[in-house]
Amino acid sequence: MNTIIVYHSTHHGNTKKLLDAIKEADPSVTLVDITKSQPENLSEYDVIGVASGIYFSTFHKEMLEYLEKNLPEGKRVFAVYTCGAMVKTYARDVKAYAEKRHCEWLGDYGCLGWDTIGPFRVIGGIAKGHPTADEIAGAVEFYKKL
Ligand SMILES: Cc1cc2nc3c(=O)[nH]c(=O)nc-3n(C[C@H](O)[C@H](O)[C@H](O)COP(=O)(O)O)c2cc1C
Repeated sequence: MNTIIVYHSTHHGNTKKLLDAIKEADPSVTLVDITKSQPENLSEYDVIGVASGIYFSTFHKEMLEYLEKNLPEGKRVFAVYTCGAMVKTYARDVKAYAEKRHCEWLGDYGCLGWDTIGPFRVIGGIAKGHPTADEIAGAVEFYKKL
């Protein structure tokens, strides 16, 4: 399968750690940091992964705007995220974009990621040490089962 994962991982690079492990397991996957370049034509890919840290209870605003403009119709789509506090529904907006474009939803994988936003900074942040090796391995397993 011809796969691209577009990502936004700017807080601590937590989400990127999951993606680097996926890339190591499957070197054919294309990773694109949308803060650096925003491919407009994703139609050559069969499977589109959308990855981000969670910012104010959803994927980064820039990622959602990118999907609004560039997610093609009829693809197979999955999501990967890291967050300071686990909530199973954080990928709902990405799923909604996928469904709006008549894409097949393959599911999502989320885990904790070190978070030093706001007052948490004083105590060194929350979810320190995350994603763990097990959480990173979990992302690879999720990807392999797609
Ligand atoms: C501005 C900001 C807002 C955040 N909002 C949330 C949130 O609503 N829920 C949550 O669980 N984590 C939140 N976090 C924590 C991040 O989702 C978490 O640290 C994530 O691992 C960051 O991923 P990244 O390093 O790949 O960008 C927030 C972090 C920042 C910087």
